Amino acid sequence: MKAILSTAMILAALASITIGYSKEAKENKAEMKSNSESPTTVSEKKFLIVYFSMPETTDPNEMTTDEDNSVVVIDGHVLGNTQYMAYVIQEATGADIFRIEPATPYPTNHAALVDLAEDEKGVNARPAIEAQIKNLAQYDMVFIGYPIWWSDMPMILYTFFEEYDFSGKTIVPFSTHGGSRFARTPKTIQHLEPEARMMDGLTISRDRIQNAEQQIMDWVNGLDL
Ligand SMILES: Cc1cc2nc3c(=O)[nH]c(=O)nc-3n(C[C@H](O)[C@H](O)[C@H](O)COP(=O)(O)O)c2cc1C
Repeated sequence: MKAILSTAMILAALASITIGYSKEAKENKAEMKSNSESPTTVSEKKFLIVYFSMPETTDPNEMTTDEDNSVVVIDGHVLGNTQYMAYVIQEATGADIFRIEPATPYPTNHAALVDLAEDEKGVNARPAIEAQIKNLAQYDMVFIGYPIWWSDMPMILYTFFEEYDFSGKTIVPFSTHGGSRFARTPKTIQHLEPEARMMDGLTISRDRIQNAEQQIMDWVNGLDL
C-alpha cells in the first residue's frame, strides 16, 4: 500500500471533468462524467491529461508484492501508479482527463499481464482502444502518461498516437517505471508525432511514487504553461 492523498486532492479529483466515455471510467467514482462542452482553461491555453495505467488489483487488502508495486491506495480506493500521477497533475492544472482503456480488458494478474505485454510487443500489436477523445482539436497542450512496459510504451500507446494527430500541439510526457525511467519513450513519441512540440517530461519510479506528490506539483508549476 502506498501514498495517502489529502482529502483535498480526492475532492479535486471528484470535482474534475473526465472526457470521452469508457466502461471503467463510468464505474470509477473518482472520475466524473463526460463534459467536453466546457474544457478547462488555465491561462489562455486548454489542457488535457491522457493516461494509461494498469493497477493489478482493486482490493486494497492483502496485496501481493506485484500488486502493491502497481498501485497507490487513497482512503480505500486503489489507483494505478500512473493514474495517481495523472490525478496529481489534474490537481495542479484543473485540466480535463481521459483514460486510455483497451477494448478487450487486460488481465490484472501480473504474470498474465507481463506475458500479454511481451506478446503485443513481439508482434508490434495495435490493441484497440475502448473510447475516443471528443474533439481533441480544442486542446493546446496534452499531458500523456503511461507505465514503462518492456523498455517501451505499452503498445496501446502506439494505437493512440496513430489514431490522433498532435500537429501544432504541445505534448508533455509522464511515466512511472520500475527502473527504466523513460526508456527513450519521449523520442519515440516525437517520432510518431513529428509536428508536435515535446516538452521535458517527468518519470517517477514505482518505489518513490508514494512520496512524489510534491515533486509532481513542483514539476507542473515549473512548466511554461
Ligand atoms: C507488463 C509489464 C512490463 C514492465 N516492464 C518494465 C520495464 O521494462 N522497465 C521498467 O522500468 N518497469 C517495467 N514495468 C514496471 C511498471 O513500469 C511500473 O510498475 C509502473 O509503475 C506501473 O504503472 P501503472 O500502475 O500505472 O500501470 C513493467 C510492468 C508491467 C506490468
